Amino acid sequence: MLIAQLSDPHVCAAGLLYKGVADSNRLFSDAIRHLQQLDRQPDLVLITGDLTDEGRPQEYSMFRELLGALELPHLLMPGNHDHRENFRQAFFELGYLPTRGALHYCVDDHPIRIVALDSCQPGKHHGLIDDEGLQWLDQTLSQNRDKPTLVAIHHPPCKSGIKYIDDYRLFDAESLESIVRAHDNIEAIVCGHVHRAIFRRWAGTLVVACPSTCTEIALRLDPAAKGASFMGPPACLLHLWEPSAGMVSHISHIGCHPGPYPFF
Ligand SMILES: [Fe+2]
Repeated sequence: MLIAQLSDPHVCAAGLLYKGVADSNRLFSDAIRHLQQLDRQPDLVLITGDLTDEGRPQEYSMFRELLGALELPHLLMPGNHDHRENFRQAFFELGYLPTRGALHYCVDDHPIRIVALDSCQPGKHHGLIDDEGLQWLDQTLSQNRDKPTLVAIHHPPCKSGIKYIDDYRLFDAESLESIVRAHDNIEAIVCGHVHRAIFRRWAGTLVVACPSTCTEIALRLDPAAKGASFMGPPACLLHLWEPSAGMVSHISHIGCHPGPYPFF
């Protein structure tokens, strides 16, 4: 099974630029086209939050319009820039979102089970999963302890080493860590939020953060460094899962680059 992960498209209302500089809507369309031109078509596209920049209904309308070009099965989840109730209203017809409360869900239609956790705190940029969410996760994971599972959370639960990113990570992750550690069928925890590709072993599994389709947050490892964003090369992740080998993840850069050249 091939799962494509897009993240943080930050779609804006028609005619507006993300942070006044990035044409996030066009970049999201580029990302969709990129997926549809891959030599192997993904079985599923997972978009891990910050679908819109401000969570406004007109932004969700634009997101739906742009997403209409995607001819592949997909799952959506919210990020800190989304608005929970506007998100629910915009995508409720997709059939997997709960009718109330946090937007946790589990989709078990594929060889690998997808468990999406809503880590958003209204009005805040850091993440948190409350006791109800942790209980839901524990019960959900316990229903089938052998099935390979991908857990998706917008906010990475572990540090990246970039201070201005870590200030807004998932807070109070100790309880989540013990639940994850108790389930050895979690292939990876896939995240967004940090607008960079980051990989870290955590709680006995791998945390993988996906780049944004829009902008890149600067890689500055000095703890005193100030945060910044760049128009970096947009990218997505491709997670290839095979029954005999487990999951391997690849970074796939979006856009035109010189080549191809001979392999040898
Ligand atoms: Fe974002």
